[in-house]
Order: sequence, then C-alpha cells, then structure tokens
Amino acid sequence: MGIILPVRANFIDGAISPASNLLLSEVIGALSYALDMTEGQPPGHSIRCCYIGMSIGKKLNLTHQQQWDLYYTLLLKDAGCSSNAARLYELYGGDERIFKRDFKTVDMNDFKQVSKFVINHVGVGEGFLTKLKRLVDVGKNSEEYATELIETRCERGADIAKRLGFNDAIADGIRYLDEHWDGNGKPYRKSGHAIPIASQIALLAQVADVFFMSAGKKSSLEQVSHRSGSWFNPELANVFKSLSGDMKFWSDLGTNDLQQKIMALEPASLAMKVSEERLDDITAAFGMIVDAKSSFTYNHSSRVALYTDLIAAKFGYSQMHRSYLRRAALMHDIGKLGVSNNILDKPGKLTDEEWVVMRGHSRATEEILSHLTPFAEMAKMAGAHHERLDGKGYPYGLSDEEIHMDTRIITTADIFDAITAERPYRGAIPVDQTLEIMKKECGTSIDRIVYDALTKVVAELGLK
Ligand SMILES: [Fe+2]
Ligand SMILES: [Fe+2]
Repeated sequence: MGIILPVRANFIDGAISPASNLLLSEVIGALSYALDMTEGQPPGHSIRCCYIGMSIGKKLNLTHQQQWDLYYTLLLKDAGCSSNAARLYELYGGDERIFKRDFKTVDMNDFKQVSKFVINHVGVGEGFLTKLKRLVDVGKNSEEYATELIETRCERGADIAKRLGFNDAIADGIRYLDEHWDGNGKPYRKSGHAIPIASQIALLAQVADVFFMSAGKKSSLEQVSHRSGSWFNPELANVFKSLSGDMKFWSDLGTNDLQQKIMALEPASLAMKVSEERLDDITAAFGMIVDAKSSFTYNHSSRVALYTDLIAAKFGYSQMHRSYLRRAALMHDIGKLGVSNNILDKPGKLTDEEWVVMRGHSRATEEILSHLTPFAEMAKMAGAHHERLDGKGYPYGLSDEEIHMDTRIITTADIFDAITAERPYRGAIPVDQTLEIMKKECGTSIDRIVYDALTKVVAELGLK
C-alpha cells in the first residue's frame, strides 16, 4: 500500500520535458562544465576545446564520422579526471585542482620550470618536514607517479565514454589524449600516426585553450608552435596557425553563447536525440564521475538514487516521475567535482573557510544542471538538497513549503547514506543507530512522512 502524499507534493508530469526533445550534443555539452571544475579550468574549457578542435577537424576535411568522433572526444576528454584526484592529493598534498591547472602550463623539458612548479605545488599548506618528505619522495618517483596518474585518468575516461554509450573511436580518443607526436607522452608512448587523430587534435586544443585563457591568444599560438614536432603533429600545428589569423576564431572563442554555437559543429547527419534510456546511462555515468572523486563518496550517488527511487515508489510516483527523480539524485552532488580533495578527504574538522567551499557544492550543482534549459527545474530541486525545513540549511535558507517534496526525498536519502557511510573523520554508523539519529531530526531537517517511507525501504532492503 502506497503512502498518500499531501496535495502540494503532487508532481505534474508536463512540467518536465521528455528526454526525446533533447539533443545528445546539448546534454553532453551542458554536463561538460562539471568536468572543467574537476580539472581546475575556467568554466567552458571543454566547450572551447570543442570549438578549437572542430575548427581544425573541418580544415583537415575529416569524414563526418571522424568529425563526430572528434566532437565527443573533445567534450569528454576529461571524463576520467575525477578518478585520480584523491591519489593526486595523497601523493602531492595541497589543492589538486590548482595542481592540475598549473601543471598544464609547465614545459616538462624545461628543468627550471619543472623545479619551480614542484617546489610551489608539493605539500602546500603543510609543515616544513612533511613538505620536505614529499619533495624527496616526488623527486625519486616522479616518472612513476605521473604515469600512474595519467593512466588512471585515461583508462577511466575511456571506460566512462563507453558507459555513456559512445563507440570505441571516442573511447580511444580519450585513452590516448596524453600521447605525444614524438613518442614521449604518457602512458603508452605511442607516436606519430599511431595516435588517433582525435587524440592528437584534443591535446592541441587543450594546450591552446589553457594558454589562451591564462595568458592570451599570442601565448596560445606560441605554445602550440613551440611544441610542434614534439607534442604535436606539425601539420595540425600549422592548421592552428592558419586559424589563428582569423579574428572571428578568437572572438567566437570568447563569446558567452559558445555552448549554443558548438552544437552547429556536430555533423548534422549524425546528430541525434537522446532516448530515455540514454539519458539514464548519461546521468548514471556522471554519478560515477562524482563518486570516483573520493573514496569516501564511493557509490554515494548511486545509493542515494536507489533509496530515492524506492521512497518515491512508496509514494506511488509515476514511472516518469521516478526516473526524473533518479536522475536528479544521481547528479545531486555533481557540484562536488569543484571541491578539492584536501577538503573532501580531510581527516579532521573543516575550518570556516573550508566549510564555505564545501557548502558551495550544492549551488554548483544547480549551476551545472542549469546549463541545460529543460533541466532548470531539476537544477533547483537537486541544488536544494542541503536545505532544511527549519530554514537553517543552504544555499538559500529555504524553509517548509519552499522545499519541494522531491527535494525532501533526495535529502532524506542523502542524509541516510551520509551517516551510514564511512567518513574521513569517523567509521560507518550502523543502520538502526542512523535511523534513531534521523528520527530526532524529523521536522527540522527531515520530513517525517519521507522518514517513515525510508524506514520501510530500509526494512525491505534488509539493511543493517
Ligand atoms: Fe551534497
Ligand atoms: Fe550527497
């Protein structure tokens, strides 16, 4: 027997556009903003890389299929980036997002630059001895660590592409992103034309955008020219040089509506709408990207989605409403990709400043999902998962009726999983104890009706 919800919580199916109205390029383009955050790149990095790379691809007269593969390789080149964040923090300390961002501007053949980078980015904020220990360790094992980190990122990125429903060419485009034309890249030391053309173009586009955004177009062009023949295929570097003479190329790159513009760059004959099943796969894959960021969030998004769905079933929600809610639950913490692991994995109490950053994740979730117009409602709903009925939550301090029943369900599932999971500063708490803790929160942070539904779900799942 289902639980009868108050009228205000009823869901209007028409409020949510069916997935069939969405283009695949629209969905992947919007969610690529989440990947930019993980890499510490300015928002729109993946979109700009797509613009740069597709402009090169068109000049090379690639076939439509090659262009299509290139298009999604460019948007998803950083899909594996969250998987090495925790390890990077473990090895080098500090804010791994800053480390990743600044590392992309270092010329690895320049000993002075490399040394300066290491001294400035290893053990940041740590005591002298800890930093020294790290420096000695990194000095001895730098090559091994770099290969391990890049391999994790490349293989995970290729795996995510497959889970998103893309072909082997796109998975390989991502897998070989860090290979260099001269064979000195990582991790497989491929060289020349053995490197897929999509990977060759994506690496060039990445370098071009990193320097364009950090130092301007002159620097972007200089870096591409400087690495021609070592990092890059000289033919591609020449194409980029010819593109860079066009003022429109640079002005397009700086426009706010580039997300819309790049949709026209996908070969029209291969553009496709997203099916309901594909949208499920996409949200599940992005949930995995979020969960991979920290060992303490391992499978968190997928468990929250499961509990959310089962609670919604108790309320007799329609199948469409349940899948909508499952997708929102899978992506509720997508904004955590912008929080560094020195905060997420910190074994002790967070400082006030660190809490501000941590709290920012729910607003970031709202921002990322808002890049997709039909997700506007979902963005608000998922972004409100840390709001409380008593108005003491964040980011907006909403209260009571301002918090939608859908949000209350995700919040309850989220709190349950957060308490039962192991945290950096404590072990996992048993289920019966968790339910007792949550019961005391009914009426303040947790909706009692949703709590009652959760207890039934937990009993049926046999969780202990
Ligand atoms: Fe959260
Ligand atoms: Fe969460």
